[in-house]
Amino acid sequence: MSLSASQVEHEADPERKDGIIGNRPSPSAFLERSPKLRATVLDRLHHNSVLSATLFDKELLVELAKLAAYLQLGRFPAGHALEDKILAAAFFEPSTRTRLSFESAMLRVGGKTISVADAKTTGVAKGESMRDIGQMFNSYADVVVVRHTEQRAIQELSEYLKIPLINGGNGSDEHPTQALADWYALLKWCPEIAFGQLPEKFRLNIGIIGTPGNMRTVKSFLTLALLFHENINHITIFSEMADPLGDEIRELTNASPIGIDFSQNLKQSLEYLDVIYMNAIAFLGDGYRHFGGEFSLDGDSQLKPDTVILHPLARGEELGTDLDQSIHNLYFNQADGAVWIRQALLLSIFGRVRDVVPSTFLA
Ligand code: CP
Repeated sequence: MSLSASQVEHEADPERKDGIIGNRPSPSAFLERSPKLRATVLDRLHHNSVLSATLFDKELLVELAKLAAYLQLGRFPAGHALEDKILAAAFFEPSTRTRLSFESAMLRVGGKTISVADAKTTGVAKGESMRDIGQMFNSYADVVVVRHTEQRAIQELSEYLKIPLINGGNGSDEHPTQALADWYALLKWCPEIAFGQLPEKFRLNIGIIGTPGNMRTVKSFLTLALLFHENINHITIFSEMADPLGDEIRELTNASPIGIDFSQNLKQSLEYLDVIYMNAIAFLGDGYRHFGGEFSLDGDSQLKPDTVILHPLARGEELGTDLDQSIHNLYFNQADGAVWIRQALLLSIFGRVRDVVPSTFLA
């Protein structure tokens, strides 16, 4: 792959004064390929919950990314679009990025937020049920983003909710909006993935460091990766676990034309990987554990010159800070873009796309 150089708006530059470092692919270059937004596609999200990455097909993901790119560029005023709406961010498990980026997304379009940052400050500490908590969300907010340690909590809550529910990460299961942020960054980095067909020799070789069966971000990332099978040559999974896929994701990968293999030798594979997605936190039934000691990357890693690294963060020792200044660092862009893709999602869920996008931008 050598497509990204012309699309990089701000290359890594240690002299930059604005604190922005790493690979910053341009939202404008992405939009140039298909400027008109198809609002009818985004209508499919209206008043919908987002429980799983399987909700998205390629068309929906790409239109959402286009709206996010317009919002990121500030091409039209959207400052009051959700001023009559309240988002509840209910996090029964710690978070930095997901909760804050949803709140930021909402506040930037005039919406209000109410937040649970720690389960211990809610009735959960006294044994309150998800059923009763769901009733309160119905009364207090217009949309709710929930993170929970238990996989079943999201499904259970969805049965009592009348307002849209967004899964902000449920145990080892899914983190669908993280995967939206992952692919928003990748589509900006290489718009051809969304809009074209890469010549065979340029199709992506993706390395995933982690276990899709136990890591929610990895599972949701891989689920969306399968949508772009025309432009992906191969996916290699690097994991210490004997069965990294698990039954559910194996069913999806078996149905995909993308070749998937498993390896223990990251160093030897670096010479052909175009994209590396890494995470090290796995849920193993009784809690979270750090993995990935064997599969670390740092400034001395023999990466191809244009390889990009994605990491949902928080990072551990698996990702050296000496990569932050490099062109390989797409992970900060991935985290920054989360605000815009989540804002695009909220506007779509509330059916406000046509309120903010001028008709000249619509297909
Ligand atoms: N990527 C992610 O889910 O980060 P947080 O745990 O900080 O929300």
